[in-house]
Amino acid sequence: MEGKLSRTAKKLASSPIQELSFLAQRCNAINLAEGFPDFPAPSHIKNAAVSAIVSDFNQYRHVQGICDHLAKIVKEMHGLDINPLTDVAICCGQTEAFAAAIFAIIDPGDEVIVFDPSYETYEAGILLGGGVPVHVPLDPPQWTLDPTKFMNSFTERTKAIVLNSPHNPTGKVFTKAELEVIAGACCSRNCLAITDEVYEHITYDNAKHISLASFAGMQERTVITSSLSKTYSVTGWRVGWAIAPAFIVSAIRNIHIRITDSAPAPFQEAALTALSSRPEYFESLRKDYESKRDYMINLLARVGLKIQFKPQGAFFLFAEVPDDYPHSDVEFVKKLIVEAGVVTVPGQGFFHPNSGASSQDCNYQKRYIRFAFCKSNATLAAVAERFAKILDAGGLGVLR
Ligand SMILES: Cc1ncc(COP(=O)(O)O)c(C=O)c1O
Repeated sequence: MEGKLSRTAKKLASSPIQELSFLAQRCNAINLAEGFPDFPAPSHIKNAAVSAIVSDFNQYRHVQGICDHLAKIVKEMHGLDINPLTDVAICCGQTEAFAAAIFAIIDPGDEVIVFDPSYETYEAGILLGGGVPVHVPLDPPQWTLDPTKFMNSFTERTKAIVLNSPHNPTGKVFTKAELEVIAGACCSRNCLAITDEVYEHITYDNAKHISLASFAGMQERTVITSSLSKTYSVTGWRVGWAIAPAFIVSAIRNIHIRITDSAPAPFQEAALTALSSRPEYFESLRKDYESKRDYMINLLARVGLKIQFKPQGAFFLFAEVPDDYPHSDVEFVKKLIVEAGVVTVPGQGFFHPNSGASSQDCNYQKRYIRFAFCKSNATLAAVAERFAKILDAGGLGVLR
């Protein structure tokens, strides 16, 4: 009966991250694989959710106040004027907002440019919409955008580009100069942009998140997607949004209503409290994650992993196996689970072999490991203890 599955379902293999999570559970490994916090969500937000449940917000719901808050926030952060009545669609997380945006603008055969490496969900969403992902490599070790490679990836069929900054898996925050190149290309090639800004509040040192929509000519052609998930440590609440010109938002809302109808009602209510959090909340979020980042950098460097790029945002470290490590990233991750009891993600799942990186240059695609550091200090200390055992046993050599 498996032949009855659709072509699309067959194209979407189950996520390697999920499979490794199962292995990790069997080995009782500490989970640095998945990008969700293992510490409590902020009390003021949880209390708002409890109060919404107690107050019987149980039915399908569109909380207009979220759109009103978002209009104020994008004005303050990016100088964008949007109409909260027509330019915001509330969805079930960024994931649904992204999929609905793809379904709203992509016809079968349309090409969508995605940077490589990238968060794996984009490709799946594009494929589900019948689109063709076209991957443009960011150049390691600094993950810089090569304007020539980027411009060469446009064709007659290019309908949209996807931009994720701050970036999963590398922690890159695209620079103003890079964003200018991207914006210029979108305008000159008359194509749309879908941005994923879920890490908009998580930036380090002097890095600043700039929305692509704030560049000249971009607001009219950009769908901003984001969510509560990362900023408020509530990835399971499933409240996100798309902000775009009214004609796109109207299409996204129509699709969203057919797929999920509405985001969870009590958590939409709690979103009102989350979105009006005081500036100190965002400042301490940044500071906490910055110190976790520094802790992880020290830890990984001590065991001998190569970290040539210090994350400027998001909460992942994309570290390289040592030059003389003889196996692939997948082998490394399996051995790390078994020998150290720590699970991470092999980098190759974020890369695409057809990304335009020449084949002799592609070797780097199997040399990276993604560590999620959105974990409590106790979890990170437990990882340090487990790594100490590896060091005692002679370092990463035991993983050979
Ligand atoms: C870049 C990026 N976008 C989106 C998501 C998922 O967002 P949401 O929980 O809002 O669907 C993740 C989760 O890891 C992510 O890393």
